[in-house]
Amino acid sequence: PSSPSPAADSSNLADSNAAKQPFVIGVSGGTASGKTTVCDMIIQQLHDHRVVLVNQDSFYRGLTPEESERVHEYNFDHPDAFDTEQMLECVQKLKCGQSVQVPIYDFKIHRRCSDTFRQVNASDVIILEGILVFHDQRVRNLMNMKIFVDTDADVRLARRIRRDTVERGRDIDSVLEQYAKFVKPAFDDFVLPSKKYADVIIPRGGDNHVAIDLIVQHIRTKLGQHDLCKIYPNVYVIQSTFQI
Ligand code: ADP
Ligand code: C5P
Repeated sequence: PSSPSPAADSSNLADSNAAKQPFVIGVSGGTASGKTTVCDMIIQQLHDHRVVLVNQDSFYRGLTPEESERVHEYNFDHPDAFDTEQMLECVQKLKCGQSVQVPIYDFKIHRRCSDTFRQVNASDVIILEGILVFHDQRVRNLMNMKIFVDTDADVRLARRIRRDTVERGRDIDSVLEQYAKFVKPAFDDFVLPSKKYADVIIPRGGDNHVAIDLIVQHIRTKLGQHDLCKIYPNVYVIQSTFQI
């Protein structure tokens, strides 16, 4: 009997290694579009799997004392406001099955809690959520699925005013000023252009139960394929395409 060729062996090995990796989902969209709400709904529906949520907000850089003094002039919506290298390293480790310590960010003081971290363990599904998670190509390349939550700007601004005044210690004037000066221009320059990388665009965010059901179905199919590959590493699973 002929033995399998080395090429076939290595491709089977690559397949079975890939099969063991967690399924990484990126969820992007403008401020207050409903990203977190959509993630929570996906996590709820996948209650029988190990799913972890990582927020891009956790990787906001600390401000220098000068920047802190003039915080109203700081652009939190520009890609440079984030420590993308740290976020990349974190997702790479999670994708390799390692656990990580994720910083906790406090929006009221514009800074990370210095000595508190959140332990995030290896999981079946990793969801990375944030306004600019599609900006860096290296981060995008780690994602198995990219979702963009598309909600009208007026709805988002109304939600943001309520949320930032109730939960993030802001007053209405400062929210409106920040929105006009930084949030809206950065949405147009960086967030909206990154929508083209999405595999799935969800109109109306958390109100769109049909889209969320379809996404969860797709994730379940992919996780099922992972499980099959783990049990039968020599069996090839035919991939199906997915469109909403
Ligand atoms: P993001 O993560 O994109 O900033 P969130 O999911 O945190 O958005 O939602 C922002 C705010 O809007 C929150 O206060 C949330 O409760 C509210 N919100 C989100 N989705 C809806 C919805 N479908 N209807 C009403 N309020 C919503
Ligand atoms: O939750 P959401 O996606 O809205 O979080 C991102 C928003 O948080 C950005 O639009 C940014 O303006 C805002 N932000 C802030 N103050 C900080 C950090 C971020 O207003 N210290």
